[in-house]
Amino acid sequence: MDTSPNEGHIIVHEDYPSLAAAVARLRAAGRSVALVTTMGALHSGHQELIRQASRDGRTSVVVSIFVNPLQFGPHEDFTRYPRDLETDVAKSREAGADLVFAPSVDEMYPSGGAGVVTIVPGPLGDELEGRSRPGHFAGVLTVVGKLLNMVKPDRIYFGEKDYQQLVLVRSMSVDLNMGVEVIGVPTRRDPDGLALSSRNRYLTCEQRTAALALSQALKAAAAAASGGPRASLEAAHEALAVQPEVVPDYVELRTANLAPYSGGTDARLLIAARVGTTRLIDNAHLSFPETS
Ligand code: PAF
Repeated sequence: MDTSPNEGHIIVHEDYPSLAAAVARLRAAGRSVALVTTMGALHSGHQELIRQASRDGRTSVVVSIFVNPLQFGPHEDFTRYPRDLETDVAKSREAGADLVFAPSVDEMYPSGGAGVVTIVPGPLGDELEGRSRPGHFAGVLTVVGKLLNMVKPDRIYFGEKDYQQLVLVRSMSVDLNMGVEVIGVPTRRDPDGLALSSRNRYLTCEQRTAALALSQALKAAAAAASGGPRASLEAAHEALAVQPEVVPDYVELRTANLAPYSGGTDARLLIAARVGTTRLIDNAHLSFPETS
């Protein structure tokens, strides 16, 4: 099994024909193909996805780097979203990627994006993140659907930090018979618990300290889980309230598929909050006693 990182040169494809030809060459060489979709600003969470995707030694990994205008609201951070292709390519290569696809907005949306046919996420797309970010998941599913059609991978990898995105991509793959295996990878965290996110770089030092309240709330909820769901939710709210700079948007218990939680031993706790102007999300699996 070859798990060594790709130390060779990595070619950055900027257009679909060149990407498709490169993927065809991999297929002709008998490789299976995995896709890791990113918006760049790679951190070790992305690198972990690339490592996991390549670890069987038979799979070539395509990393897409594209800041997708379709998934940003009018007042969101599309223009200031960090862009540094050279560093992202180096990080992709270091983690073992074989190809990078970094298209322009014109390449992905020749008509400029407005009026394109989009993928509708269904009711879950309007809940949780979708309540505060209308249209966000239609933008995500549309670009992921396009990238799946372009790369035609066997597997696609997502971090569990964006748990709703993972669930919706899984549903899309099943509902639209896309035939791709969707793999979720546990959230990578800094040693103090903060979930890795490209948006963490927007935080000042003080805000970063305050932002720890999200992971602390998840920990407090897990510690209180023996007392049942209500105790867990209370513990999460209390931990968030310790940091006045953290303004919660939602703290919700759901099932693993993000249906409303109405009892049972397994649940997902999802938290979104604003710290200054930065929106952060985090989540964790919780186990309750049988009687819950
Ligand atoms: O998670 C992200 O970075 C983005 O939502 C994704 C999946 C790359 C689509 O633009």
